[in-house]
Amino acid sequence: MPDTGTKRAWVHASSRPGIVNLRPKPYNRQSMAVTVRSFAKINLGLSIGPRREDGFHELLTVYQTIGLHDLITVTAKRGSGIEIRCADPRVPQDNSNTCYRIAEKALHTLKIERRIVIEIEKRLPVQGGLGGASANAIATLLALELALDKVLKTKLSALDRCRIAADIGSDLPLFLVGGTVLGVGRGEQVYPLQDLPAAACVVVTPEVGVSTPKAFAEWDRKLTVPTPSDTMIELGRRLSAWLSESYSGAPFRRGRRENPLLELVRAGIKNDFEQVVFPEYPELSAVKRALERAGARYASLSGSGSALYGLFASKQEASKAAVKLRKQGWMAQATTTLTRQACWTKFLVSSF
Ligand code: C5P
Repeated sequence: MPDTGTKRAWVHASSRPGIVNLRPKPYNRQSMAVTVRSFAKINLGLSIGPRREDGFHELLTVYQTIGLHDLITVTAKRGSGIEIRCADPRVPQDNSNTCYRIAEKALHTLKIERRIVIEIEKRLPVQGGLGGASANAIATLLALELALDKVLKTKLSALDRCRIAADIGSDLPLFLVGGTVLGVGRGEQVYPLQDLPAAACVVVTPEVGVSTPKAFAEWDRKLTVPTPSDTMIELGRRLSAWLSESYSGAPFRRGRRENPLLELVRAGIKNDFEQVVFPEYPELSAVKRALERAGARYASLSGSGSALYGLFASKQEASKAAVKLRKQGWMAQATTTLTRQACWTKFLVSSF
């Protein structure tokens, strides 16, 4: 039979909530494969506030995307069902995978049925703290949208995109912004901070799994003084001071400035999770000391760990430190922070 060009995708369309009718919508039958980079993040300071009624904690943090990344390829073709492919056995390949969940939600919101294959080339360590799974999910969402837009001329609204991301996890929306990002609420409300020049850093990923919910629970159990609101106010003040000096144009500054990111960490920011995670996993505090001994201008746990990072004055210093740390037996990689512009310029690898 000749191809009439009127092949059909089944579209959920109902004016009555809860009732789904299927009606056909014409589409171009060609399949589309989009490959993107899924960049990791670190946290430049993280303050945990009070536990809320919904069980989440108020957070105040600065997220920073970095050059370490996985590769995600999303193929959209005729048919139905979502398939995850990944050679790393630690990555779930069922519907518990964040990439699966976000693709499912996006298709449902767009009322589209397609066969989606998501290939994850894992280059980042699977350990937490770098937002790897969350970054993979956002990369999947954006690659899927690119693929569907080419074939079906359809994409999500910015509001739906943010809602879907935040529904899946508190640290997904930051990857919709990239660069240096202020995170508040439960971490899902994100505001871009001014693009800062790239800073050299070393990421260390010890073979330890830290449970984020347990770390939050430990924070609640252990810490009453200073109260959570005190630590948030303190970090808020330090961030405001840094922003006002760096960006206000106030006439106090003389001479050549160092990288503003190093100025931020010098302002005394810290990650509250260290207070509960280090006593439980002393080797993580040993990594922080090793980073400092290797010349880091600032070293910290990222998120609830187990990844840690150090910021260095130059790429050469960072590379030397990574070599030194590897000799000491740590998994260490030198990279740089990624400006928002670099993040999006480097995002798309191929689409065909
Ligand atoms: O949002 P996400 O799924 O990443 O959170 C994982 C868990 O971490 C939550 O179920 C909650 O126990 C805890 N959490 C929290 N406060 C936050 C973010 C996460 O208590 N702001």
